[in-house]
Amino acid sequence: MHNYTFLNLGMHPLANSYLKKKELKKREKKYKLQVSLNKKNFLVKVITKFSSKTMFNNKYPYRSSMSKTMLKSFSKLANKLKKMNSGKILEIGSNDGAFSLNFEKRKIICVEPCGNLAKITKKKGYKTYNEYWNYTLSKKIFKQHGKIDLIFSSNTISHIENLNDVFKSINYILDKNGILIIEDPSLMECLKKNTYDQFYNEHIYVFSFTSLNNILKKHNLVIFDIENISTHGGSTRYYIKKEQNNSLKINSSIQKQVKKERKIKITNIKTYINFAKRVKKSKKEFIKIIKDLKSKNIRILGYGATAKSCTVLNFCKINNKQIEYFLDTTPEKQNKYTPGTHIPILKKTQNINPSKTVFYLGAWNFIKEIRRKEKNFLKKGGQFLIHTPYPKLIR
Ligand code: TMP
Repeated sequence: MHNYTFLNLGMHPLANSYLKKKELKKREKKYKLQVSLNKKNFLVKVITKFSSKTMFNNKYPYRSSMSKTMLKSFSKLANKLKKMNSGKILEIGSNDGAFSLNFEKRKIICVEPCGNLAKITKKKGYKTYNEYWNYTLSKKIFKQHGKIDLIFSSNTISHIENLNDVFKSINYILDKNGILIIEDPSLMECLKKNTYDQFYNEHIYVFSFTSLNNILKKHNLVIFDIENISTHGGSTRYYIKKEQNNSLKINSSIQKQVKKERKIKITNIKTYINFAKRVKKSKKEFIKIIKDLKSKNIRILGYGATAKSCTVLNFCKINNKQIEYFLDTTPEKQNKYTPGTHIPILKKTQNINPSKTVFYLGAWNFIKEIRRKEKNFLKKGGQFLIHTPYPKLIR
């Protein structure tokens, strides 16, 4: 067997399956959340399989546009690409259009399997395929639009089980001089920051340069540039070309990344065993802080009912007894309950006393944005609780 299971996070519900009040009494579907390392290609993967149809349906609650940080990051990239005169663009996993809407309608094609999200870009007049990305779809799009000059995919490729089909389809439709840009959470950052919450049913893979490069090689695709970006708690943006395209040179960022990954021993099983030990310790410390706060009668509220926080709360067995409610800006999540832990999700705070309140940051990856928004709360003695790189309270 090539796969070594290094992390066992216990039983979990599907991360984005927020519950309506009437569903609270029903038994939730749960799975064993375990993570493995492939000793051949060093791909890190969540073991249990779920069909895309179960996870990405017409009621998908995650909206990229709900965080200013994401919008800014996408508009910055779009401006850069516009200057490059990137030709015909295709976005795989366009969500609610946070990236695509930066472009003129005639320039970009959206692919989004979740009906409720595809509707948003369709309504705005953007050509949107409400379908799953696969070889059949790439052939269909090719027939209607021809070859594509630029393919962009953010936080989507890591959500698709069959990577060989993903890249075969991309290869098929990408022009020989075309560029593929993908961005997903970085394994290196996850290991460094002990952010085990990057693992849940939808994040089937957490890529490193090393593992992604091993997969791409089989499809004659080459990573020629890399940017490390801060979204989703540390992501990597990979710029990829076809092997036969000699006009794009390999940037020095590649060698730098290789060195960084070597330094943290990304291909060594011990790195993962040690990570798992830190995760266990993190759980103990997180529970202890919460117990201490409760003993002091301090209210704990959640900030950002993220899919990531679903992993933390279910792993640490924290529920609505400890966290009174979550705040979230996403209408699709509001007035529902967190999966497994049944914490209500609200739109606004209900008169709180900052010096007696702690916000657990489910959306710790947007801490800068939240700090700005909650300046007054912090000024008046409020505190944040985060679990990365280790559980702590911050002012
Ligand atoms: P993500 O970390 O998976 O991108 O999810 C972020 C979640 O946090 C999303 O549901 C929106 C929510 N959020 C807030 O509720 N308030 C905020 O200020 C920010 C930045 C995010």
